[in-house]
Amino acid sequence: MPGPESSTEVSRVRAATGSAKKPPPAPRSAARPGENTWTDFADARARAYLDHAQSVRGEVRFQLVTRALTRILPRRPCRVVDIGGGFGRQAVLLARAGHSVVVLDNDQTLLQAATDQVAAEEPEVARRVSLVQGAGEQAPELVGTGFDLVCCHSVLLYLADPGPMLNALARLVRPGGLVSVLTVNRDSLAIRDGLQADWRGALTTLLESSERGGRYLPTRADTPLELGRRLTRLGVLPVEWYGVRVFSDHRLSEPPPEEFADLCELEWQAGLRDPYRQFARLFHLVARREPESGLRGEPLEPPLAP
Ligand SMILES: C[S@@+](CC[C@H](N)C(=O)[O-])C[C@H]1O[C@@H](n2cnc3c(N)ncnc32)[C@H](O)[C@@H]1O
Repeated sequence: MPGPESSTEVSRVRAATGSAKKPPPAPRSAARPGENTWTDFADARARAYLDHAQSVRGEVRFQLVTRALTRILPRRPCRVVDIGGGFGRQAVLLARAGHSVVVLDNDQTLLQAATDQVAAEEPEVARRVSLVQGAGEQAPELVGTGFDLVCCHSVLLYLADPGPMLNALARLVRPGGLVSVLTVNRDSLAIRDGLQADWRGALTTLLESSERGGRYLPTRADTPLELGRRLTRLGVLPVEWYGVRVFSDHRLSEPPPEEFADLCELEWQAGLRDPYRQFARLFHLVARREPESGLRGEPLEPPLAP
C-alpha cells in the first residue's frame, strides 16, 4: 500500500498501465485538515494494495500480526472489528482461529474483494465474517461497541489527523479489551529508500522525517511512543509493540520465497527485540482499554520474551 506498504507500488502500477508520464502528485509539506490520502487516490491505492497483498511483504506482515494477536487474545472465540479491513485477509485469518470479525471499510472495490475472499473459505469460517461499508470514524454508530479486539492496520498513515479514528477505536473496545494498531514507524522511514540504493531519497527522508513528496503518494507516520501516549490519554494503555518487516520491506513486489517460513521466523524474532524492531518499516502496537475499575497498566512494556 502506498506509504508504508505501497507508495512505491503505486508508481509501478502507473508505469505498468502506461500512465508513468503523468507527473507525480505535487509534493505537499503540510497535511490538509481532515485529509484522507487513501480516499484522495482511492483507485491507485486499491490496485497497488491488492498487488502488495500478494507479495512477500504483504504476507509477512499478515503472518506476524496474526501471530502477535494469537498469543495475546483470550483462548475463546472473541468479537473482533477490523477498521479499514480492506480485502478481508486479516479477518479471514482471525475467523479461521474461531473469532467473529466485522470488517468495516469505506472502499467499495476492496469490500468486493473481501466478499470474494470470504466466499472462498469453508462455510463455518465465512459465517464468522461480516462486511460493512462506512467510515471508521463513525464505526461505533455503525457496528456497535463492546468488542474484545479492535484492529486498525495500515490505516492511520492515510489520515492527516488520526484523532477522530483513535477516538472511535477507544469507544469500540470493551473495558479490558484490546486495540491493535499497525502503522508506519517514522523513526525508520529512510531505511527502505536506503536499501534500494536511493541514496538521495533516503537522505531527504532521514533529514525531514517525512516521505510527503518526491516519488511517494502522501502518507503520514507515527512512532510507538507518541501513538502509545495518544492512546493512553483515551484510556487505552499500550501493552507491547513489535517491529514488522526488518529484512523484507525493501523487497517490494517479490512473491513469497520458498523459504517463507524461515523468513517469517526471522522477522518475528527481530520484531520482538531491540534494536532490530526499531528498524522495521511498520510497528504493531497492542493496547488494552482500562477495566471499569480504572486500574492502570504500565505503558510501553518491552515485548514479551520470545
Ligand atoms: C492499506 S489498506 C489496509 C487494509 C487492511 N487493514 C490490511 O491490513 O490489509 C487501507 C484501508 O483503509 C481503508 N480506509 C482508509 N480510510 C478509512 C476510513 N476513514 N474509514 C474506513 N476505512 C478507511 C481503505 O479503504 C483501505 O481498505
